Amino acid sequence: MEELQKLVVYCPDKSKEKEALALSERLQLPLTTQPGPELSLKLEEDGLSLMGYGLSYRGDFMQMLSRISKGRLGQEMLVHMAKTKNPNPKAADCTAGMGEDSFLLAAQGYEVTLFERNPVIGALLRDALDRAGREPQLQEIVARMHLIEGDSVELLREQNIDYDLVYLDPMFPARKKSGLIQKKLQLLQKLEQPCMDEAVLMEAAIAAAPKRIVVKRPLKGSYLAGRKPSYSSKGKAIRYDCYLGDRSL
Ligand SMILES: C[S@@+](CC[C@H](N)C(=O)[O-])C[C@H]1O[C@@H](n2cnc3c(N)ncnc32)[C@H](O)[C@@H]1O
Repeated sequence: MEELQKLVVYCPDKSKEKEALALSERLQLPLTTQPGPELSLKLEEDGLSLMGYGLSYRGDFMQMLSRISKGRLGQEMLVHMAKTKNPNPKAADCTAGMGEDSFLLAAQGYEVTLFERNPVIGALLRDALDRAGREPQLQEIVARMHLIEGDSVELLREQNIDYDLVYLDPMFPARKKSGLIQKKLQLLQKLEQPCMDEAVLMEAAIAAAPKRIVVKRPLKGSYLAGRKPSYSSKGKAIRYDCYLGDRSL
């Protein structure tokens, strides 16, 4: 990740200096009071954002409210794929990113463990979760979201949890969507290249023996690690492949 070497922690806000220093030490990045030449992790009163190339992005679960209110949650494809009769279902999101898919699962009632291996994305996600935890409308949902920073392939192996669902959404080449999503992806893709270890990720998911594995793919993309799913569901730009535990794994 060449860009990480050009990344700085930028803190324009004096009251946040201590926090910024701790973050820069943890991520082993220089701390500055001016934006970096390329990418900056900017820490201010409103939270942590990633800025650079004329763009700025900060995780904001408040923006997800419109997708879960007024009966809209049930229209989400992921929610259909994740339907369960278990009143206390557990999910592992092995490729958490900015946690939006996990948020939908948590809104559906899942207790979700989010694994994120990129330390910068992990820091942005943790900040977004902390802020969401202070919002009365989001509190109950984000209380079901548990972030673990690290590689899900290794961490799943160490856990002995009976997951109802393991969810995989490895980075694939740019999706064409709204301006906001493009902006988010443009910046996040500077930190994380398309996934090169698909087979390892799939094997780890299978070894965890969940009731089902759900994988997000580009509409016409190949099956993850070449494995044929039990069934698929197609949207306009993406496809979900579902692997049922007792049949096809
Ligand atoms: C396409 S993004 C996921 C987006 C996410 N579904 C969302 O709703 O925001 C993929 C993320 O998975 C992370 N990732 C890829 N492989 C991983 C692994 N083995 N363990 C943990 N995180 C991983 C990447 O760092 C990246 O942030």
